[in-house]
Amino acid sequence: MNYFFITGTSRGIGNAIATQLLANPKNQVTGLSRTNSISHERFSFVEMDLSDEARVKNWNFPELKNADKICLVNNAGIIGAIYHAGKLEADDIAKAYQVNLVAPTVLTNSFLKKYSSISVKQIIINVSSGAGKNPIDGWSVYCATKAGLDMFTRTLAEELKIADKKHIYAFAVAPGVVDTSMQEEIRKSSSNDFSRIQTFIDYKNSHQLANPILIAEKYLSILELPEQFKDVIFSVKDI
Ligand SMILES: NC(=O)c1ccc[n+]([C@@H]2O[C@H](COP(=O)([O-])OP(=O)(O)OC[C@H]3O[C@@H](n4cnc5c(N)ncnc54)[C@H](OP(=O)(O)O)[C@@H]3O)[C@@H](O)[C@H]2O)c1
Repeated sequence: MNYFFITGTSRGIGNAIATQLLANPKNQVTGLSRTNSISHERFSFVEMDLSDEARVKNWNFPELKNADKICLVNNAGIIGAIYHAGKLEADDIAKAYQVNLVAPTVLTNSFLKKYSSISVKQIIINVSSGAGKNPIDGWSVYCATKAGLDMFTRTLAEELKIADKKHIYAFAVAPGVVDTSMQEEIRKSSSNDFSRIQTFIDYKNSHQLANPILIAEKYLSILELPEQFKDVIFSVKDI
């Protein structure tokens, strides 16, 4: 059996990844988010608010029977409040760091504590962003969380190499601009707070936003054959 733990399966990219994985009868998927939209005999829902530090810290990965492969996809993320620094609220800053960076780091650590001694293939994918590589005004916290996620993943990959854990793979993979509710939220911001808003409105109007189903297929290809991917940090556009 292949086991997949995916955060943010209620909609968007995470929902598309989970739904496609469920087409394979060898796959068992656990989705962790605040709400659920998937009903399937091989899907388990764990209600979890990733902004709740205690909930994330205290949740334990389960014992698994007959595992052939075990995967963690830290997909859930929030754009957070879109304002220039100096106009942000402290609570919004803390929440975005918790959901986008602290929660994936804690879940990865718990995953490794639980499963890394089992000698089956394990794959950790952190859903990253181009915003972690280039500054975008109004998104300073989002950019910083994704840059942090990239560096956490790079360091993890280094540690796995030093420990000679060849059965465990770690990647941080950016999805490109995708037609999800996150993009809707971005388009609702103001040009006073985000100078590039018109570019994002144009992406939608000129059909440049990718379909989450097609993007999910790229993530599935990494989960299927991780040994084909030599880089730790890349974009689905590179696949
Ligand atoms: N869309 C893009 O253009 C784009 C570009 C670059 C990177 N990304 C990244 O791709 C990932 C997925 O984004 P998306 O576009 O698919 O976003 P989305 O459509 O807004 O979906 C976000 C998912 O995350 C979950 N989530 C949000 N806050 C949560 C919380 N506090 N606790 C638990 N789950 C939470 C949501 O579930 P609940 O609301 O049910 O909790 C939902 O399932 C994110 O990491 C995002 O940063 C997206």
